[in-house]
Amino acid sequence: MLPEELQEKLERDIAAVDHPKELAVDVMFALQKHYGYLTDEAVETAADLLGIAPVEIEEIATFYTFVYREPVGKYVIHVCDSLLCMLDGSETIEDHLQRKLGIRAGETTDDGLFTLLPVCCIGYCDRAPAMLINRKVYGPLTVESLDAVIDRLKTEHTPTD
Ligand code: FES
Repeated sequence: MLPEELQEKLERDIAAVDHPKELAVDVMFALQKHYGYLTDEAVETAADLLGIAPVEIEEIATFYTFVYREPVGKYVIHVCDSLLCMLDGSETIEDHLQRKLGIRAGETTDDGLFTLLPVCCIGYCDRAPAMLINRKVYGPLTVESLDAVIDRLKTEHTPTD
């Protein structure tokens, strides 16, 4: 069940456009922010709000890297694995990240802090090897700069966040 305020905001936004489906991604992101990921309930809610079938929401969701259909950690790390980043050492970066976090691609740390997901070119090839954490770009990465970012995020984290 959505908070009334969010429900009303989404209804207002949708009512303001001619073709509600064009807001599908915005609605999915809003629901994902509320639920933590795009839960089955969120898919149903998005479909209801937009007046389309849940399967259409599922189809749209599969196209978007940043829509998560499974639970993710507080920090979602997308390491670019496309060609330019690979040429500049993204495999070393990803290997180091996996060892440092103790997880493999597609997994979340036991403390729920980090999820590691590969991603195709994120448009920051001039900063290769690059990654996004919660959609903020980092790069060009080195093992040292990566350690600094992860250590800072771990330090900043408090259980009440
Ligand atoms: S190839 Fe990695 S950001 Fe473009």
